[in-house]
Amino acid sequence: MASSVLHPIAARGLVRRFGDLTAVAGIDLEARAGSCLGLLGPNGAGKTTTIEMLEGLQSPDEGEISILGRSWATDAAGIRERIGVQLQETSFQDKLSVQETLSLFASFYRRPRPVPEVLALVNLTEKATARVHQLSGGQRQRLALGCALVNAPEVLFLDEPTTGLDPQARRRVWEIVEEFKRAGGAVLLTTHYMDEAERLADDLVIVDHGKVIARGTPPEIIRSLAVESIVEFSLAEGSTLDAGQLAELGGLPGVIEARNLAGGYLLEVDDTRAALGSLIGWLERSGTVATDIGTHRPTLEDVFVSLTGKHLREA
Ligand SMILES: Nc1ncnc2c1ncn2[C@@H]1O[C@H](COP(=O)(O)OP(=O)(O)O)[C@@H](O)[C@H]1O
Ligand SMILES: [Mg+2]
Repeated sequence: MASSVLHPIAARGLVRRFGDLTAVAGIDLEARAGSCLGLLGPNGAGKTTTIEMLEGLQSPDEGEISILGRSWATDAAGIRERIGVQLQETSFQDKLSVQETLSLFASFYRRPRPVPEVLALVNLTEKATARVHQLSGGQRQRLALGCALVNAPEVLFLDEPTTGLDPQARRRVWEIVEEFKRAGGAVLLTTHYMDEAERLADDLVIVDHGKVIARGTPPEIIRSLAVESIVEFSLAEGSTLDAGQLAELGGLPGVIEARNLAGGYLLEVDDTRAALGSLIGWLERSGTVATDIGTHRPTLEDVFVSLTGKHLREA
């Protein structure tokens, strides 16, 4: 992988099979220093399997991995000293305090950061002597981040770091990741939250069923949809549109595609004014009562819907 040697994280042609299931079906990715590569996809897309191969925790059936220019096969100990890993679920020793937990992780490395420095980094100084089981979800997650940062890594792997956290706790995690990026680190982050991907990822790989379905910067990916806006509406309880009606909507002036998703209707639109006008006319002609008509600029979620016909979250 000569061309990728300069990137701290690089992988080509990754494949991982579990029996008949191909969980990862040929993924290429690269993360630059000082940036975050987001791996965005629904549950079961193969994100954890991919990140665990990069972390050296699972071996690929096919493909090559280079971390900081080294390979797991020949230099596992050298890689481990220089990376930080936060697993999708971290189990701590409940009886240990926060600082004891960090000291334990620090003992795994030759040149760890001082524990008080890590406590400050993840905003847990005031919780230093608290037992792990006394922490809130957000505090636990920051402790997991602290454990991943205890060796001052150059590369950070985060698997769904904010799942289950409230908005404020999520923002604190995001700030720590942004600080790590600013200091020149490379981050690989998996998430099924498009807002997290939009906020943190400089580059994005969208995956579904183990395959890359879109890649680029978030704005590039959204632009690739070539949609001006999304028009949404709902119908009164109990009423639905049939396939023929949906096809009629898809053929209206300004409309590219019409979808029925999760109880609501979505129009991908390339001329918002024309589409709204023709939609209102169609609703009147067909005697359909629509509620909550609204429009929004396309998001990463809309790209995912457009490519797969399903939402990120429900998938
Ligand atoms: N150890 C395993 N044995 C069998 N199937 C697995 C194993 N790990 C993951 N899978 C399957 O591989 C697919 C991808 O899983 P995973 O990488 O955990 O996805 P994600 O992290 O995107 O939710 C899923 O269908 C999952 O059930
Ligand atoms: Mg996962």
